[in-house]
Amino acid sequence: MTAGASPQEAWHTLVPMETTASVRKAFGLEDKVAIVTGAGSGIGRASAEVLAASGAAVYCADIRATTAEETAAAIAKEGGEAHACPVDVADREAVDALVRDVVAASGRLDVMCNIAGMMLESSILDLAVEDLDEIMSVNFKGVLFGCQSAGRVMVDQRSGSIVNMASAAALAPTPMVGPYAITKSAVIQLTRSMAVEVGRRGVRVNAVAPGFVPTNMTGRYYVREDGTVDEEMKEKVLEPMRRFAPLRRVGEPADIAYCVLYLASDASSFLTGQLLSPNGGVAAH
Ligand SMILES: NC(=O)c1ccc[n+]([C@@H]2O[C@H](COP(=O)([O-])OP(=O)(O)OC[C@H]3O[C@@H](n4cnc5c(N)ncnc54)[C@H](O)[C@@H]3O)[C@@H](O)[C@H]2O)c1
Repeated sequence: MTAGASPQEAWHTLVPMETTASVRKAFGLEDKVAIVTGAGSGIGRASAEVLAASGAAVYCADIRATTAEETAAAIAKEGGEAHACPVDVADREAVDALVRDVVAASGRLDVMCNIAGMMLESSILDLAVEDLDEIMSVNFKGVLFGCQSAGRVMVDQRSGSIVNMASAAALAPTPMVGPYAITKSAVIQLTRSMAVEVGRRGVRVNAVAPGFVPTNMTGRYYVREDGTVDEEMKEKVLEPMRRFAPLRRVGEPADIAYCVLYLASDASSFLTGQLLSPNGGVAAH
């Protein structure tokens, strides 16, 4: 204790003051390098945009090269740093090569966002083994490979944040969404298991479980074969979801991207093995 200081004054000196600079630094990604898979569309695209706008150099990975390029070009137009990387996340060697190339080019990897995913509508009773293999390969193995490749680099660096995309579907069973929900449950368990494995080596692993967000994936319920939106059908799909949610709305890709930013940034440096649930409050029912 400082000579002459009261115990209360001494206590204050132990807690550093938060300032505009310290808060901006905690929530920002200046000088950080990030990979975002599924960056060509929807939640992945919004996440790539938000991370880049927060200062990160972002590698936009997607199986569809043209959409990854569109995202990277849009970010560059806004003054951010982005690179397009065509990759199939279900291909372990391709994911390893992606991470290797990023580290060779940028010298480090601070943030890995495993967002690429696919939907499959099937009952559990009728689930075909080829469909199971496909959805497990993309939604689970794709996330696992990203965690492994990035995790090795981050453990060596003794720092890094991995963000995995799960889904509210894993928390609330719904008919015909079972196989998808099972892959997302596996992502949640992977996140928790890996977090306890790598925490002491400076690496954090968290997941996000969004509620319904209109994107190309969910547009399947109201987009016609020719690509046009059936507005009446869209309203039929969205209206009950809005009514059910305490916040009376469905999500936007940016709602999820801001959760990704929080988990990627140092603002969440005491958080690992956790699941954030941006869902309009649905789970509170
Ligand atoms: N939209 C929702 O309501 C919602 C809700 C919960 C969770 N999610 C999850 O969020 C993630 C993004 O979904 P979205 O709604 O933005 O979908 P989206 O279809 O708009 O985007 C998915 C992207 O992943 C890419 N992709 C698919 N397979 C790939 C592969 N093998 N390798 C690399 N890229 C691949 C696609 O090309 C696409 O660009 C998914 O993991 C999804 O399961 C979405």
